[in-house]
Amino acid sequence: MPYSRKYDVLIIGSGGAGLSLALKLADHSMRVAVLSKFALTAGSTYYAQGGISAVFDAGDSIESHIEDTLDAGGGLCNPEIVRLTVTHGKSSIDWLRKQGVAFTEEQTESGEIKLHLNREGGHSHRRIVHTADATGKAVSLSLIERAQEHSNIELFEYHNVIELITTQSPDRYGKRVVGSYVLDTRKQRVKTIAARVVVLATGGASKVYLYSTNPQSATGDGIALAWRAGCRISNMEFMQFHPTCLYHPHAQSFLISEAVRGEGGKLILPDGSPFMQHFDPRAELAPRDIVARAIDHEIKKRGIDCVYLDISHKSESFIREHFPTIYRKCLKFDIDITKQPIPVVPAAHYTCGGVLTDSYARTDIANLYAIGEVASTGLHGANRMASNSLLECLVFADRASEDILQKIAFIPAVPKIPDWDESKVIDSDEEVVVSHNWNELRHFMWDYVGIVRTDKRLSRAMSRVELLKKEITEYYSHFRVTSDLLELRNLVIVAELIIRCAQQRKESRGLHYTLDYPETDNSKPPQNTILTP
Ligand code: FAD
Ligand code: SIN
Repeated sequence: MPYSRKYDVLIIGSGGAGLSLALKLADHSMRVAVLSKFALTAGSTYYAQGGISAVFDAGDSIESHIEDTLDAGGGLCNPEIVRLTVTHGKSSIDWLRKQGVAFTEEQTESGEIKLHLNREGGHSHRRIVHTADATGKAVSLSLIERAQEHSNIELFEYHNVIELITTQSPDRYGKRVVGSYVLDTRKQRVKTIAARVVVLATGGASKVYLYSTNPQSATGDGIALAWRAGCRISNMEFMQFHPTCLYHPHAQSFLISEAVRGEGGKLILPDGSPFMQHFDPRAELAPRDIVARAIDHEIKKRGIDCVYLDISHKSESFIREHFPTIYRKCLKFDIDITKQPIPVVPAAHYTCGGVLTDSYARTDIANLYAIGEVASTGLHGANRMASNSLLECLVFADRASEDILQKIAFIPAVPKIPDWDESKVIDSDEEVVVSHNWNELRHFMWDYVGIVRTDKRLSRAMSRVELLKKEITEYYSHFRVTSDLLELRNLVIVAELIIRCAQQRKESRGLHYTLDYPETDNSKPPQNTILTP
C-alpha cells in the first residue's frame, strides 16, 4: 500500500532551526511534521560547544556586536540582516530559557545571579551564552522534549528526503512546493508527504571534506534539493575551517571549542613556541579564517602533523568546570589537558553559503523556506563569526514562523501527488561504487578545494566532479535508492557548487583564499557569488 500523509507544514531537519520553528508554529495550531534522516539528535546542533552570541554584558552593545560581525564577514555581510539578527539575541535566549534550556550562570560580587558569558574569536566583548562546553546538547535535548510533548507535532526519525515535489504556480514565483518524497530508511520504503509549506532546515555540508568537525548528517542535502528544484544558491566558496579539531587517530571529528582560546589557550608549535602573534595582532582571538590559515601554513611549512593548544596554565578546577566535555574526551585518549597541550588541526566546520533567502527565510520557490545553516541569509558574509550560527537558527525560525502564520490560510490545498515510481529500478549489486565515490570525493575536495586554493587545483577538482556526477546519475537511474546513495548524489552537487563559486571569485576574501589572487580586490564593491540553476 502506498503511504501518503498531509500536513500544514513539513519541516526537514530536527536541529536548532527546525525544532524552534516547529514549536512556534505548533503553538498556533498548525499541524507540523518534522523529519530527521537519522536520530532526532543527528544534526550539528547537538554537538555545538561554545554557545550562542547575544548582548548581555553591561559594557557591551548591539552596535559592537554588529561591528564585529561585519568585520569578520569581509565586506559581504548584509548590514540589515546583521542588525535584524543581533537585535534579537536577548529575546532568542529568553525563549530558549522558557523551553527549559539551563545556561551556565555565575554569582557577581554583589550576590546577583547572572548568565556567565564566554569570549570567542572576533568578538570584542564577552557575549557567548553557554551551558558549560556542551551548549548544543542542552538546546537540542530541551527542544526535542518540548516537541515530543506537543500534540500538533509529529516527529519522524530515520526519514531521508529524496526530492522536493513542486508544481507550476500562477504567481511571480512560477513554481510552488507541495511536499516531498521521503525514504523511510528502517523500512526501506518511499513515502509521499504533502504539505502546504515546506521548510529546509537540513544543516550544512562540511562532510564534503575528508576532515570535518561535523556529524554524519552534514551532507548538504537541503542545498542540493533546493538547487534541483530551481532555487538560487549563493556564496558556497565560503566554507569555514575551524582551527582546532582534536588530532588523534581514534578521535573522529571532535572539536576543541574556541572558548578554550577565549579563556587564554595558546597555540604553540611542537617546540613550545607560540606563533599566532606573527599573523595577527589579535593572535589566538583573531577570526577563524586567519587562525586556520596560520595553522595550515605552519603545518605545511614545517612538515608537522599538527600544532598544539595549551590551556594547562589555568587551574585544574577552572578547566574541569569550564570544559568538562573536552577534558573527559581528551582524557579518553590519554591527553590530560590540565597538564599537557592538546594536538589540533583545522577541519571543515561550517557552510556560510547556501540556499539564497530573504529576511523572512523565503526562497525562490513559493512556500519553500530555508532556515539555519542550509540558508544563505547574508548574516555571515565571507566568514561567520563564532557562535552567530545558533543565533541565526533561532532568529530565522522566528521570521519564517511570522511569515507562514500570516499567509497559510491563503495557500490553496495541495493537489493530488503521484506516488514514487520504483517500477524501473532494481536493488544494487555493486554498492562499492557508492563507498568508493564517497571516499574519492572527500579526498579531492580536501586536497584541491580546502583552506588554500589555486585555479589549477579547482579545475582538477571540477574534472573529477564531472566524472563522478555522470557515474552517480547513471547509478541512480538503475538502482533502488539507499541513504548512502542519496547523500552521495547530494554531496557531488554541493562539491560542484563550491568549486563553481570558488572559480568565479578572482580574489581572496574571508574564507576564500587563493594563491593565484592572494589580495582582496578593493577596486570595486564586494560581490556575492550567486548561481542560478
Ligand atoms: P543541524 O543541527 O545540523 O540539523 C540538521 C537536521 O537536518 C538533522 O536533523 C538532520 O538529520 C536533518 N537532515 C539533513 N538532511 C536531511 C534529509 N535529506 N532528510 C531528512 N532530514 C535531513 N554554532 C554556534 O553558534 N555556536 C557553537 O558553539 C557552535 N559549535 C559547534 C560545534 C560543532 C562541533 C559543530 C559541528 C558546529 C557548531 N556550531 C556552533 C554550528 C552550529 O551548531 C550549526 O550551524 C547549527 O547547529 C545548525 O543547525 P541547523 O538546525 O541548521 O542544522
Ligand atoms: C566552538 O565552540 O568553537 C564553536 C563555535 C562556533 O562554531 O560557533
